[in-house]
Amino acid sequence: MPSKLAISYARVTKSFGPLKAVDDVSLDIAEGEFLAIVGGSGSGKTTLLRLANRLIEADSGTITVENEDVQNVDPVALRRRIGYVFQAGGLFPHLSVADNIGVTPKLLGVSAADIAVRVDELLELVQLDRAAHRDRLPEALSGGQRQRVGVARALAAKPRIVLMDEPFGALDPLTRDALGEDFRDLHRKLGLTSVMITHDMTEAILLADRIAVMRAGKLLAQGTPAELSKSGDAYVLELLRTPRRQVERLNARLPTSGAA
Ligand SMILES: Nc1ncnc2c1ncn2[C@@H]1O[C@H](COP(=O)(O)OP(=O)(O)OP(=O)(O)O)[C@@H](O)[C@H]1O
Ligand SMILES: [Mg+2]
Repeated sequence: MPSKLAISYARVTKSFGPLKAVDDVSLDIAEGEFLAIVGGSGSGKTTLLRLANRLIEADSGTITVENEDVQNVDPVALRRRIGYVFQAGGLFPHLSVADNIGVTPKLLGVSAADIAVRVDELLELVQLDRAAHRDRLPEALSGGQRQRVGVARALAAKPRIVLMDEPFGALDPLTRDALGEDFRDLHRKLGLTSVMITHDMTEAILLADRIAVMRAGKLLAQGTPAELSKSGDAYVLELLRTPRRQVERLNARLPTSGAA
């Protein structure tokens, strides 16, 4: 048997009216793995992610989280076990940074003193200065800082699994790069299983161990970048070619640095 599974989808389908948003998808995510989900707008990425923590219920098929059928797990308990980073942060605008991060521990009945300690640990973990950020409202943060708070909040209840819906989407490329690298370090340090939706194939290739490609509700392909490059599917190959084509266009326009 391969390593233990964190999440397993077996022939999962979810329709909205006549539309099959997720269409007969089977996908195993191993414990400790970093998986990226890529695919065009409306291809079913968010729906697939939300099925895992029962923000959406499947019509058919089976989803297991750490070998338990999610149907048998209380949805609230499930969401405490699985951290979720919403697209564009999804912070509560009327709560301070500390209160945003402490939302789940508070629901779990953790004492105020213990929450305060945990908030400080998490701010350090995501590299935000405590004194400067703890008591601010989300509106007083930059986009990148908000995303860091979103990650801290997702980690607050010490989940082993983190799901992220385009966590670095709206950021400038440098911030995005730095946050991606920082998250990759956290993933390793905390022994997480991470699933990240991204539109950016370069980001997927650089950060993830494996990539799942969605199109029109179907899982078209899954594998390491090297495995995907041997795919027989034209769309998958086209996606994989994009980063290299961009590099070639950049190289043509930018003088290369150094003596090479
Ligand atoms: N609650 C809903 N009611 C009706 N249709 C929905 C609902 N949620 C999603 N859909 C439809 O299901 C399809 C898949 O949506 P989903 O949000 O999973 O796509 P996505 O791959 O995450 O797209 P994007 O990259 O734009 O975020 C889309 O056609 C969408 O309009
Ligand atoms: Mg989406």
